[in-house]
Amino acid sequence: MAPAEVLAVTQLSPFYMQSLQAHCIVHDRLHETDPAAFAAAAPRIRAIAASGESRVGAALMAQLPALEIISVMGVGYDGVDVAAARARNIAVTHTPDVLNDDVADLALGLMLCLARALPQADAYVRAGHWLRGPMPLQRKLSGSRLGIVGMGRIGQAIAARGLAFGMPIAYTARSPRAQLPYRYLPSAQTLAAQSDFLVVITPGGEGTRHLIDAPVLQALGPQGFLVNVARGSVVDQDALIDALETGAIAGAGLDVFADEPRVPERLRALPNVVLTPHVGSATGQTRRAMADLAFDNLRAHFAGQPLRTPVPEMRQG
Ligand code: 8YV
Repeated sequence: MAPAEVLAVTQLSPFYMQSLQAHCIVHDRLHETDPAAFAAAAPRIRAIAASGESRVGAALMAQLPALEIISVMGVGYDGVDVAAARARNIAVTHTPDVLNDDVADLALGLMLCLARALPQADAYVRAGHWLRGPMPLQRKLSGSRLGIVGMGRIGQAIAARGLAFGMPIAYTARSPRAQLPYRYLPSAQTLAAQSDFLVVITPGGEGTRHLIDAPVLQALGPQGFLVNVARGSVVDQDALIDALETGAIAGAGLDVFADEPRVPERLRALPNVVLTPHVGSATGQTRRAMADLAFDNLRAHFAGQPLRTPVPEMRQG
């Protein structure tokens, strides 16, 4: 059988790209770079390869009459119009679980940076300020109250780490998870009011857009820190910047932003933030595992085998 033709809709991880190129004909972002060549290839394209941040809308799918599957290398797939895919019987897969540890590790790393001012401490030594005296005292992380917005697989990995730090743990989610030993609160605002560190790890998309808004930040309060390792869309970024500038909250650790890779100057100028460039899953080991799983989903599909990790919507009837 001829190798399948695949459209890469974004710059893909080299791990994913290598597997694709070894087994498929890859059209790398042709829809953006060469519309005429894309139009010529479109009728033969059977798969889309995407990353967690990719936008795959109904309009793009409509240009691909032979499209059978969209394989996202990422746990998040909020950029994919899953309803449009389902309407045409196009499969959608993602890469859950293999990145839980890395994203949870980063959440704890950001919390440690905020509590103990680690980036500032590093700068302090480099600048020679230590010669003049010790740094100001910081906050203790162990024992602080941890609030988790979203108690899926990564939320649970963050909670497990919080337990090791002796943190009382509460969470909010669409519904309580009776099997978990953590306290459930019905809204982000009530959770924020009872948290020292509020960690956001809920899926993106319209359902959670600006879930963390000005009232939630007010409830978190001047001693509270926000950490976002989910999607920029979940936080009202303008309200967050206001809260950081006015001291309505103590600080924020952010791995995701409203309009990546653009980070507003007002945010970059703040002393009470730690900013990372969407690196939650960015280790060699995890990106390799994600790429292998994303490719395995394509391979399974083309071999007529069950998909390894279809998105949840595909599993409901
Ligand atoms: C990556 C992510 O940025 O898994 C996700 O949802 O946001 C990330 O792990 C990206 O998708 C890697 O391709």
